[in-house]
Amino acid sequence: MTVSISVTKETAAGEKRIAMVPKVAKKLGKLDVALTVAKGAGQGSRIPDEAFEEPVMLSGRADEIYTANVVLAVNAPEPKQIDKMRRGSVLISFVQGHNNPDVVATLQKNEITCFAMELIPRITRAQSMDALSSQANAAGYKAALMAANSLERFLPMLTTAAGTIRPAKVLVIGAGVAGLQAIATAGRLGAKVYGYDVRTDTKEQVESLGAEFLVAEGVKAEAEGGYARELTADEKQKQQDMLAQNMADADAVITTAAVPGKPAPKIVSRAMVEAMKPGSVLIDLGAAGGGNCELTQPDEVITHGAVTIHGPSNMPALLAEHASEMYAQNLFNFLQLILVEEPGQDDAKPGDKTHRLDFNWDDEILAKSVLTHEGRIVNEAVAKALQTQAE
Ligand code: NAI
Repeated sequence: MTVSISVTKETAAGEKRIAMVPKVAKKLGKLDVALTVAKGAGQGSRIPDEAFEEPVMLSGRADEIYTANVVLAVNAPEPKQIDKMRRGSVLISFVQGHNNPDVVATLQKNEITCFAMELIPRITRAQSMDALSSQANAAGYKAALMAANSLERFLPMLTTAAGTIRPAKVLVIGAGVAGLQAIATAGRLGAKVYGYDVRTDTKEQVESLGAEFLVAEGVKAEAEGGYARELTADEKQKQQDMLAQNMADADAVITTAAVPGKPAPKIVSRAMVEAMKPGSVLIDLGAAGGGNCELTQPDEVITHGAVTIHGPSNMPALLAEHASEMYAQNLFNFLQLILVEEPGQDDAKPGDKTHRLDFNWDDEILAKSVLTHEGRIVNEAVAKALQTQAE
C-alpha cells in the first residue's frame, strides 16, 4: 500500500508558514509516498502551487487533504477539520496540547495518532527533527532585526566625518536557541552585546559569539536535560537587581527566557522598564507564554513612557520562507522514523522503494513526541495539565 501524506493550508491568523517546500517534497517522492498539498498553502511563503512538481498532487478540497494516512501541518488543524480525518491516521504538527483542550479531545475522539513537534526531545539523535529549535533560530534572528529597526540609533560603531557614533548596547536575556541566535545577529550588526542566562554553562557559548556574559551572584539554575528550573524568590531578586542595572544603559533588550512546561518566567518588572533609557526597545519573545516582561501585550507594540515594547508571538511567520524550509526538513527527518521500508518486490526496479507506517514505541523520539494514540492522551504532562484545568 502506498502511504498517502497531505499538507494543510494553515488557517491561524497571521500564519504564513507551510509544512512542506518543493525541495523536501521531491525527497519524499523518492520514498514512493503519495503526497498531496492543499492548493494555495504555500502562498504566504512565496511558494506558488506550480512549484510543487509531479508526482505531488494539489487539492482544493479539505476532505481530500484530511483523509490522508498522514497529515502534516505547522499548527494543529481546528477540531472541525480533525473530525474529517480517518480513524487511526496520523497528524504531525505543533499542537501545544495544554493550551488546546478541544484539539486534544478531538484527536482522542477520532483515535488519531498525533505526534506533537514541540514534544520532540532535545537529544542529539533528534536534533535534525527539532522544530522548536529551527523555529526559535528564526525568532532569535528576527528579534535582533526588530530591535535594530525599532531603534532610532545605529547598532555599529561608526567613525564618520560627522563624528564617532558609539555602538548600541543590546542585552539578551535567556541564552537558549533563540537567545544565542539573537546574540549572534546583533553582534553581526555591530552592537555591543551582553548575554545572560540562569544556566551558567551557557557562558562559554555566549562568549564564543563575542558577547559578554553577565552573572547574577548566587543564581545557578541548571535542571535536567539542559533546561533551567524555576528560581526561588531570593534568586529572582538577585537576578532582577543585576539585570536592572544593566538594562538601565541598554538600547535594546531581547528576552527569550523559558522553562519547559511553565509560563514564561516574569523577569522584567514595570520598574525595570521605567528605568530604561528613553528611546530604548524591548523585544519579548516570551509573549505567547505570558511574557518575560510584566508589561508585554501579545502581538502588540506598546509604548511605556519612552520605551517601546514588542510582544511578537509568531516571529517565524515573519521569516516564512526559511522557517517553512527548515520545518519541512524537520518533518521529513521525523517521517523517516515512522515510514518503514517494505521488502522489495521481485519485479521492482533498482531504487524502487515502498513504505508502510510503523511505530516503534521503543524509540525514545516517538515515545516522547506522541501526544495521542488509540484514543488516549499518551503524554503525561499534557494529560495532567488538561485534567487540572478541567477540575
Ligand atoms: P530554550 O529552552 O532553548 O532557551 C530558553 C533559555 O532561557 C534557557 O537557556 C534557560 O536556561 C533560560 N532561562 C530560563 N529561566 C531563566 C531566567 N529566569 N533568567 C534567564 N534565563 C532563563 O528556548 P528557545 O527555543 O530559545 O525559546 C525561547 C523562548 O522563545 C521560548 O519562550 C519560546 O516559546 C519563545 N519563542 C518565541 C517565538 C515567537 O515568535 N515569539 C518563536 C520561537 C520561540
